[in-house]
Amino acid sequence: MQSETTILYGKPVVQHIRERLKTDIQSLATKGIIPGLAVILVGEDPASRVYVRNKEKAFKELSCYSKTFQFSTTATETELINLIQSLNQSTEFHGILVQLPLPSHLNEKLITNTVSPDKDVDGFHPMNLGLLLQGIPRFVPCTPNGIIEMLKFYNITTEGKHVVILGRSNIVGKPMFALLVQKFKMGNSTVTVCHTKTQSLEKITKQADILIVASGVPHLVNGNMVKAGVHIIDVGINQVKDDSVKGYKLTGDVDYDSVLGIAKSISPVPRGVGPLTITMLASNTIQAAKNN
Ligand code: GUN
Repeated sequence: MQSETTILYGKPVVQHIRERLKTDIQSLATKGIIPGLAVILVGEDPASRVYVRNKEKAFKELSCYSKTFQFSTTATETELINLIQSLNQSTEFHGILVQLPLPSHLNEKLITNTVSPDKDVDGFHPMNLGLLLQGIPRFVPCTPNGIIEMLKFYNITTEGKHVVILGRSNIVGKPMFALLVQKFKMGNSTVTVCHTKTQSLEKITKQADILIVASGVPHLVNGNMVKAGVHIIDVGINQVKDDSVKGYKLTGDVDYDSVLGIAKSISPVPRGVGPLTITMLASNTIQAAKNN
């Protein structure tokens, strides 16, 4: 039997969180502190440029400060490390973000690990990942944190649920697992992480009460792969060529139309998880300013 699928839009969740953040921003302002974020962007990756523009816009709207340090594709490790070391000392910037992916000649781990753990608003530093695994997180990676906020906002509980995550990236899959497995109110889940070497994927996805898809493969999941009543969070943002003026449209990792009437809820692409990631980045930057 078909039933109605709720669409989990990101905007109301963002508005809800922003109200919370505004109080913190105002109280910092009374002390003369404006939360500041340094964004390091290397090269011309079009998706990265869009993300960085959206970050700048969101920070302006929140009366926070952000500055982008733009490098050409040929930037060296030394140049980037020198900049990060000076930003680590700066009082102007409470958070530092190195936009990923970096061009392939650069050692991503070496560069991101240079960011001081106190300014690591992405939560990618081994120290912050370790704290997250211990269940005492300081900076939670932004997309998993946004997903937790989305589930909470729409009253989707996680305790005792089987959550299946598609994708084992450092940005989404691994930290998402680390959060959901904790003894937190929005945790206590049984978590399965699937990836490119997983066999019989469909057998596993069909067991999910909550399915989080961050595979980077357009339309990997369809209605035949999920059980009725599942909640689906689609983290994919794929540019698929079409006949429009732009020449492409954005699509998720889930074949959206095919799960309508089967899933209890699904986050759309665009206008789902994306805006939340940036809001959680602002939240981490404000947290860094408060810690300081
Ligand atoms: N590229 C795609 N997502 C992210 C993110 O959350 N942080 C950084 N630094 N780069 C990204």
